[in-house]
Amino acid sequence: MGNQPPSTWSDRFESPLHPAIARFNASIGFDIELIEYDLTGSMAHAKMLGHQGIISASEAEQLVTGLEQIRQEYRTGYFQPGIDAEDVHFAVERRLTEIVGDVGKKLHTARSRNDQVGTDTRLYLRSQIQDISQQLQQWQQVLLDIASHHVETLIPGYTHLQRAQPVSLAHHLMAYFQMAQRDKQRLQEVYARTNISPLGCGALAGTTFRIDRHYSAELLGFQDVYANSLDGVSDRDFAIEFLCSASLILMHLSRLSEEVILWASEEFGFVKLKDSCATGSSIMPQKKNPDVPELVRGKTGRVFGHLQGMLVMMKGLPLAYNKDLQEDKEALFDAVKTVKACLEAMTILLQEGLEFNQPRLAAAVASDFSNATDVADYLAAKGVPFREAYNLVGKAVKTSIAANKLLKDLTIQEWQEIHPAISDDIYQAIAPQQVVSARNSFGGTGFEQVRLALENARSQI
Ligand code: ARG
Repeated sequence: MGNQPPSTWSDRFESPLHPAIARFNASIGFDIELIEYDLTGSMAHAKMLGHQGIISASEAEQLVTGLEQIRQEYRTGYFQPGIDAEDVHFAVERRLTEIVGDVGKKLHTARSRNDQVGTDTRLYLRSQIQDISQQLQQWQQVLLDIASHHVETLIPGYTHLQRAQPVSLAHHLMAYFQMAQRDKQRLQEVYARTNISPLGCGALAGTTFRIDRHYSAELLGFQDVYANSLDGVSDRDFAIEFLCSASLILMHLSRLSEEVILWASEEFGFVKLKDSCATGSSIMPQKKNPDVPELVRGKTGRVFGHLQGMLVMMKGLPLAYNKDLQEDKEALFDAVKTVKACLEAMTILLQEGLEFNQPRLAAAVASDFSNATDVADYLAAKGVPFREAYNLVGKAVKTSIAANKLLKDLTIQEWQEIHPAISDDIYQAIAPQQVVSARNSFGGTGFEQVRLALENARSQI
């Protein structure tokens, strides 16, 4: 074969792959992302082989030293495998044999790339889950900090995107804190199911060597080992669960993004975008665009797509390994990068890119009918059955609209025509600060409850 690199395959093959097929088959272009984990996994495997006497202790040591050297070579940029390596696993094994000689060829004893790639992917995802959990924690800290400054800042609360009842801005922001809390919990659950070792499952059926799967699993910090070798090499549930968790994280960020985009519009005017987090238009000099939340909202769709893609990729696979499974990586890597980038950008946006327009917010909650429920509650507290009170207030809203008035503008005579039980204290009862502060049921927007929620949140993170 002259100068060509040695064929990957056994002597069964007589001619090399067609170059286009080699490119089509290769995963080195993306699975190089796994190299650090591949090296770590291989070191544990080599140690296990030595520990079990399958190779000698000195051979195991040479393998580990060689793998360590590859790590350094990769980090310094000296080792940059090309397409001819097919995938990261072959690239490492080939380089190892160049470094340590023929003993390098012993590394793959009692192992297949099928259990190897499963091991690598789990090690990778474990580490990513920890990073993302950290980021979620920072995100929560920022939400908490801003909320702490806005317990008594009011913002219209909506249902159906119609003004419903005003709420504390802190309460609104803390809803996202709670979502992030669930996101963290979910990731920890995914972590537990990711943290199982498939190493030693072999190609599909286990191995004839007297390996110790628990030993290598322990070296790698896995909590347990797969109980069934066929399942071990072909299970990607953990990746799908991660994509599902990633989708939920982004769905949450995307909802807030949508709100920020609305709030920053001329029509709402609830927030101003600061220059550090906004962009301009190439033609309209007056514009300031909310690109960050728009991109987060847009990228969310990509991650949903990866989840869908992975489910569809898996659904028709007979046991055990099939090359289709190589397709798991780009989806996973892209989802990880996207979640990390979106969390970072949204954290910065919230921390320093937004300024709430307090006069505008105060004016908004004072100039609508979002205190109508409070009039009904007022009457119900005086013994009028709620449904009856609700109808009376509905009528009051109708006549107010006809007279171009708000409820607060009705005279006491007008109120008493609506119901004689209404007295002067109605004005106080329907003032925005009062209606919010009075919703003091557990988990509600009353200031006392919001302060309690902030305190609980502080102890949670
Ligand atoms: N690059 C492959 C993957 O990512 C490694 C496993 C290959 N196994 C095989 N039997 N061809 O899935």
